[in-house]
Amino acid sequence: MMSYYSVKWLGDHLSILDQTLLPNEEKYLRLTNYRDVIEAIKSLRVRGAPAIGVAAAYAGVLAAMETSDTALLSHTLEEIRKSRPTAVNLMWAIDRISSILKQNSAKPQAEIVDALLQEADKIFHEDVAMCAAMGKNGNRLIKDGSAILTHCNTGALATAGIGTALAPIFAAHRQGKKIKVYAGETRPLLQGARLTMWELMKEGVDATLVCDSAAAFLMSRRKIDMVVVGADRIARNGDVANKIGTLSIAIAASKFSVPFYVVAPSSTFDFDTLDGSGVEIEERDPSEITKFRGVAIAPDGVKVFSPAFDITPAYLITRIISEKGVFEPGQHTIRRKSAAIADENT
Ligand code: MRU
Repeated sequence: MMSYYSVKWLGDHLSILDQTLLPNEEKYLRLTNYRDVIEAIKSLRVRGAPAIGVAAAYAGVLAAMETSDTALLSHTLEEIRKSRPTAVNLMWAIDRISSILKQNSAKPQAEIVDALLQEADKIFHEDVAMCAAMGKNGNRLIKDGSAILTHCNTGALATAGIGTALAPIFAAHRQGKKIKVYAGETRPLLQGARLTMWELMKEGVDATLVCDSAAAFLMSRRKIDMVVVGADRIARNGDVANKIGTLSIAIAASKFSVPFYVVAPSSTFDFDTLDGSGVEIEERDPSEITKFRGVAIAPDGVKVFSPAFDITPAYLITRIISEKGVFEPGQHTIRRKSAAIADENT
């Protein structure tokens, strides 16, 4: 458990920590309707693949509290689904809520709300449990004294539990392993600098902030023993969509023979998308690059391309760690790779 949370249902509304204000201000927002949740997801007040899935599920509950018209409610669920395009956890959560709506659509509104709330709570609690299991599975791969590079934010802020890629790090630290973490700042919205450093420092993990562009240099100097990142979507063949910059790190890791691990719950696996080319990559507003806290840092009228995610091909990934175990990429859809990986785990 942490002293903060990303998203929590508080009886009649959704409470989220406004992550756009971190690390300067720790402010929880009271979201009482689904439109505010959509706004919070789009503006990254709540972010991280599992956390936006959970928030979307509760947005469905808030929408159900507004109407007894189930056709309108289905339409609203589709609107929530479109709030961000890349993290599949969002679509996965809306699929679950939609299917509960279908099963209960003949019932009175209050019963529909109850049924959707039960499902949203289930999604929340499952995520908490998956985070704990990923922490345990990933911790087995972390040796005492390891130096670990991570990217973006994958902690409690990005999930309902203790995180995806940060979960093994927290587990190793809590177990007393002496680890050193390097966090890339994660341009342009600085999830690494603002959020990951905030979480690691709160937990007392030995953490060092670096520019994203320092990753290859650190590896060339043998300063990194392993890279651990999260995922927004994992295609059937093991290609991974994650925060822009992940691919550059994976290429450097391969060049310098540093193991590259992806930690993600099964809610991030997209069996319907065959490979990374089928993943829609979100493009963000140019102002996120051209301005810093409202101040221009590029010439007026500059041309901008701002993909929020990239695709790391399966062949650059050493292992995928989920709540179910440790897999070779591509094998995560089929079976647990047994003997070799079981050995690694001991
Ligand atoms: O744009 P964001 O901040 O939602 O992007 C988040 C990431 O890319 C994380 O690495 C990812 O969601 C995986 S771990 C929760």
